[in-house]
Amino acid sequence: MNRREFVSATAALAVAPRLAFGETRKLELAPASQALVGGAHPPTHVWAYNGTVPGPQLRFRQGERLKMAVENGLDVPTTVHWHGIRVPNAMDGVPHLTQPPIAAHGGRFLYEFDLPDAGTYWYHPHLGSPEQVGRGLYGALVVEERDPPAVDRDIVWVLSDWRLDRQARNVEDFGGFMDSSHAGRIGNTVTLNGAIREAFAVRAGERVRLRFINASNARIYGLSFEEHEPSIIALDGQPVAPHWHGRVVLGPAMRADLILDCTAAPGSRHRVVDDFYPRRPYRLLDLEYSKQTPLRQAFEPAPRLHPNPIAQPDLAKAARHRIVFGGGMMGAMPSQREHRGVFWTVNGKAVSENNHAHLPLLSLGKGGSYLFELVNDTSWHHPIHLHGHVFRVLSKDGKAVMPQQWGDTVLLDPDSRAEIAFVADNPGDWMLHCHVLEHQASGMMAVVRVAG
Ligand code: C2O
Ligand code: CU
Repeated sequence: MNRREFVSATAALAVAPRLAFGETRKLELAPASQALVGGAHPPTHVWAYNGTVPGPQLRFRQGERLKMAVENGLDVPTTVHWHGIRVPNAMDGVPHLTQPPIAAHGGRFLYEFDLPDAGTYWYHPHLGSPEQVGRGLYGALVVEERDPPAVDRDIVWVLSDWRLDRQARNVEDFGGFMDSSHAGRIGNTVTLNGAIREAFAVRAGERVRLRFINASNARIYGLSFEEHEPSIIALDGQPVAPHWHGRVVLGPAMRADLILDCTAAPGSRHRVVDDFYPRRPYRLLDLEYSKQTPLRQAFEPAPRLHPNPIAQPDLAKAARHRIVFGGGMMGAMPSQREHRGVFWTVNGKAVSENNHAHLPLLSLGKGGSYLFELVNDTSWHHPIHLHGHVFRVLSKDGKAVMPQQWGDTVLLDPDSRAEIAFVADNPGDWMLHCHVLEHQASGMMAVVRVAG
């Protein structure tokens, strides 16, 4: 297939409409019901942005400005955090730290900021997160490249994990002791874009860009594709050299952009499998090939995306900090007599979500390079997220990772460590926390101050 055919195949592509530049849009939070399981099962009561789980897919182009009026129709306060976007601190959506909560029963807040980086991001509440995210509040935020790579379809797959009972009701045990002190709320039902899906229809010879977002409270995914070799082209929205090592692992909040070339035969069917937890593998869905003749016979190499304008940390001059995550079951859990409901610590400190004092764990000089050694001194996985910055992931357990891997969330295996480095170039108070939401709410969070 030559370049011209490739481009004309691309012209037929259907993507969600983008917003006109500068337009203000609305996100309204309200209870809703949605057929998550389908079949004979009743719909599930959820909380939703604009009536659906996931909420609306927001698409912008790099360099555009997002203006979003949020109106809270729930009977609890909320905020919206724009995960992975380098926003000004006042737009970061952290209650009491960067803004007052958006009041229940009609409170409003206008978020407005520029989108400096292309990539796959997402939005979600930052208040009462175990329950608010666990009930369905999140959505995709896609920032398209100025010069996006040619693909036939550009698709977002939001992965959610639910704990449902036999009537498909969401079990209302959010933030319970067992979940909080162990692996977090891992459920029993995984949905893709808000429903259990049997199949994803493809055509032989098609090139699809799949943007995975793990919007689950606690579940980690390890996805592989029978008979296919996709290429990972971005992690947490940030370009990486195209590669594939058999599967992609995504902790909570993490994203991966894959180029899936549909190389199998017309009429064939192939499983997409999640086997992160080795004793509980399951089929997420099938790639279901239509009988149509292949769209093309050969594929160009997977595209390399242009890097985002993120400052390179100066590793020779970087100031080094060691941050130790502790606690949890089988670990040094804080005394429940003194710290009720706090199960996790950062550098030995037990801070609960209800403590709004938020004294910074670290104060960083503006523009300085920093290297954090993140130490997981627990028996559990922790996806650690830093707000307001994108960091380089240098190593995991002393082993260098791919050159130039960037991210906003790094998954720490039990009893392991990772090194990240970044330039502290965004002034303000920024959260550093575990994105297992039950861990975050029960102590695994801290504030990093970047001087103005
Ligand atoms: Cu995706 Cu502090 O959050
Ligand atoms: Cu954690």
